[in-house]
Amino acid sequence: MEAPDIGSKHALVTGAAGFIGSHLVERLLIDSYSVTGIDDLSSGKRTNLPADVDLREMDIRDPEVRDVVTEIRPDVVLHLAAQMSVAVSAREPLLDAEINVVGTLNLLEGIRAVDDKTIKFVHFSSGGTVHGEPTKLPADESTAVQPLSPYAASKLAIETYLPIYERLCGLEHAVIRLGNVYGPRQDPHGEAGVVAIFARAMLANTPFKIFGDGNDQRDYVFVDDVVEAVIKTIDGSSPGPFNIASGVGTSPNQIFKLIAELCGYSDPAVYGPPRPGDVDKIYLDSSKAERELGWVPQISLEDGFKTTVDWFKQQSD
Ligand SMILES: NC(=O)c1ccc[n+]([C@@H]2O[C@H](COP(=O)([O-])OP(=O)(O)OC[C@H]3O[C@@H](n4cnc5c(N)ncnc54)[C@H](O)[C@@H]3O)[C@@H](O)[C@H]2O)c1
Repeated sequence: MEAPDIGSKHALVTGAAGFIGSHLVERLLIDSYSVTGIDDLSSGKRTNLPADVDLREMDIRDPEVRDVVTEIRPDVVLHLAAQMSVAVSAREPLLDAEINVVGTLNLLEGIRAVDDKTIKFVHFSSGGTVHGEPTKLPADESTAVQPLSPYAASKLAIETYLPIYERLCGLEHAVIRLGNVYGPRQDPHGEAGVVAIFARAMLANTPFKIFGDGNDQRDYVFVDDVVEAVIKTIDGSSPGPFNIASGVGTSPNQIFKLIAELCGYSDPAVYGPPRPGDVDKIYLDSSKAERELGWVPQISLEDGFKTTVDWFKQQSD
């Protein structure tokens, strides 16, 4: 286990063993941060992280999470651990709120207990869900929020709590609202990562369905672009919220075609019933992140999809 390096900045990353978290940890290590991760490994994998990363295998709801914060006294807390599924949140709103709201407050109480140091907290909110069916496209940060799922409500609840914690204990904070993030290591067993789901199923020749007619639209952003945005958010002084997304709506039918070409897959798409509660069309305006953070996405859909499919090909070898 890597001992924290005296003098370097220390980052606490919850959900460190997950998809976005593990990419962030890699980058933080390159940037000479000491890193401590918290993850209950419910979907994340220990092998997503370098073996010497200090990973505390625990649930974000565990009161001992507060002890970890007071023990390591991080400079920055990147909070990614979450109940991620919109469908699970609709079935089990209590579970969703326990993890995404109460679990986050548990972590914030740990930060509040460190009363002689300023700790920066970054909340990973969801640009794809907090607006419901958006009143404006592309949706910007001031477009009305009207969550349609407990998941979206729980992400928004934490956005509401953060300025309160600033008043309570001087918490420095920032909110990033992500589009649909994709890239290597995304869990293809979940319900959210359509790129990962299509790539893995096409490479393994296993059946899969497109929900609805496949013409709904989401905003896809490559994980390396997200990591860059997080680094700029840590270094910046604005609390956001910042949309971190491509600005372009892409449909499952378009994704099917692009991934099929990369995988050499020639079967036709199979369609199933639409998922209740799914938003029809959402894409996000990220010009605030460009203005205030100097962030613009660098990776095109074609390049990002190729990198992702190449990674899934290596996994299936
Ligand atoms: N992937 C996206 O498109 C997207 C979009 C918007 C917001 N987000 C947010 O970004 C964050 C990371 O998403 P991701 O795609 O990397 O998901 P992920 O599922 O790969 O990562 C989440 C990690 O949190 C861990 N975890 C889950 N519940 C936990 C708990 N109770 N205690 C401790 N650890 C727990 C999981 O094991 C996993 O490693 C989440 O907060 C998610 O809501 C993601």
